[in-house]
Amino acid sequence: MAKKLYIETVGCQMNVLDSELVVASLRKQGYELTDNTTDADTILFNTCSVRQHAEDKIYSALGRLKNAKQTHPHKVIGVLGCMAQKDQRLIFERAPYVDLIVGPGQLHQVPDLIAGIEAGGGPQMEVSLGRKEGSRQQIERSHESFDPLRDAAMRPTPYQAYVRIMIGCDKFCTYCIVPSVRGPEQSRPPSEILIEAQKLASEGCKEIILLGQTVNSYRYKEGDRTTRMSDLLVSLSEIDGLERIKFVTNYPKDMTDDLLTAVRDLPKCAKYLHVPAQSGSNSVLERMKRGYSIEDYREMMERIRSIVPDAAVTSDFIVGFCGETEDDFQLTCKLVHEQRFKNSFIFKYSERPGTRGADLFPDDVPEEVKKRRNNELLAMQNVISEVDNQPFIGRQVEVLIEGPSKASERQGTADSEQLQLTGRTMCDRIVVFDGNRRQIGQTLPIAIYDANAHTLFGAVVTQHVGPELFSLGA
Ligand code: 5AD
Ligand code: SF4
Repeated sequence: MAKKLYIETVGCQMNVLDSELVVASLRKQGYELTDNTTDADTILFNTCSVRQHAEDKIYSALGRLKNAKQTHPHKVIGVLGCMAQKDQRLIFERAPYVDLIVGPGQLHQVPDLIAGIEAGGGPQMEVSLGRKEGSRQQIERSHESFDPLRDAAMRPTPYQAYVRIMIGCDKFCTYCIVPSVRGPEQSRPPSEILIEAQKLASEGCKEIILLGQTVNSYRYKEGDRTTRMSDLLVSLSEIDGLERIKFVTNYPKDMTDDLLTAVRDLPKCAKYLHVPAQSGSNSVLERMKRGYSIEDYREMMERIRSIVPDAAVTSDFIVGFCGETEDDFQLTCKLVHEQRFKNSFIFKYSERPGTRGADLFPDDVPEEVKKRRNNELLAMQNVISEVDNQPFIGRQVEVLIEGPSKASERQGTADSEQLQLTGRTMCDRIVVFDGNRRQIGQTLPIAIYDANAHTLFGAVVTQHVGPELFSLGA
């Protein structure tokens, strides 16, 4: 009988992709997926360390498995990813029944490590070198990327796929754990990326989402030739079958004109840019060591608006960072108010041991103040998102249809022929409408009749429409 694998993934798109690759490697060993831990022979958590909350969730999930391990001692329990790299043996101490700890750079070893445990080899741990535990080259090598294996069945839709173009980060923002758990910034060779994208396109994938912690810092040198992010976009645009290319997450300082021009000129390139500002106050940005001032960020936004006027821009903000005063927070509100981001992801600062922020500055903004600032900023952003979605009402947008909507999944209608579907515009706006299963994977014109802050509601346009009617360029 096939072995059963339960895998739970938290965190960013990198983790979603990593889990896809781990599943692919275990399927090759004959594993099948299960959606409950009771049936599973192997239980894996692919973890995140960006905020304390993400770690707490995993430790409580592990806590719930203590009894399962007592009654079924042969179940293999593993912790993968960023928390594995950060906490290492501490995980064995806090949850002694864990069998496996694997950092993001060793995920390709998971099948062998599980085989070792099953052969009686006891608990296994494989992690990368820390940022001070060797030469740059040794550390880079210890963060090996693991990308050629793909399993289309693991993707939420066969029409979209993540493609990693970089790993790691060298920016060392003071609040952020990523550079220590994901290692040095390394760009993948363009030839590898192109082969992967071509393969995905030949399997029917229509949209690829390029991933990197600072994706627009992509740069690959071969002899005297340097491939920049804009060059990569040009090459990827030439792949037949691919309709859309997106990329996340951008670093404000690396938003160069050649990249913006490529986004404007390449029809397959989504007019959507996620460029986190993190704060609107210079003194906070300085303590965060973001490497830019708010004037620099505004200048970048002006360049985006002048080169790609129809681009949707989204941002991330951290509220309650060390020493953030009410005036600092008001400066962040001012930025959000004036820039009218399509959307903002807002986080309460969470101190991460091992970061320079934790060493240098006290986490001195009280939790209730963080909460209030979070709510205020979110409320302001929601009003902006809702107001800015209203002009879509009465217009048509082109939507790449991804699959059943969340509502149809909740209502159990996701398997029916007629169902509510969801997809996105070229500007990454979510559109929900009633449709038919066979429309999944198609790009169709949808007429919008309602909108809230996060969703446009529409209906499929059945008559033929010429491209000139797609007036909003969404
Ligand atoms: N606390 C809160 N938010 C954080 N982020 C990164 N580190 C922290 C932290 N220590 C946020 C940033 C980043 C997003 C992915 O997570 O806003 O852009
Ligand atoms: Fe973290 Fe800053 Fe790197 Fe983004 S750029 S991953 S916030 S260190």
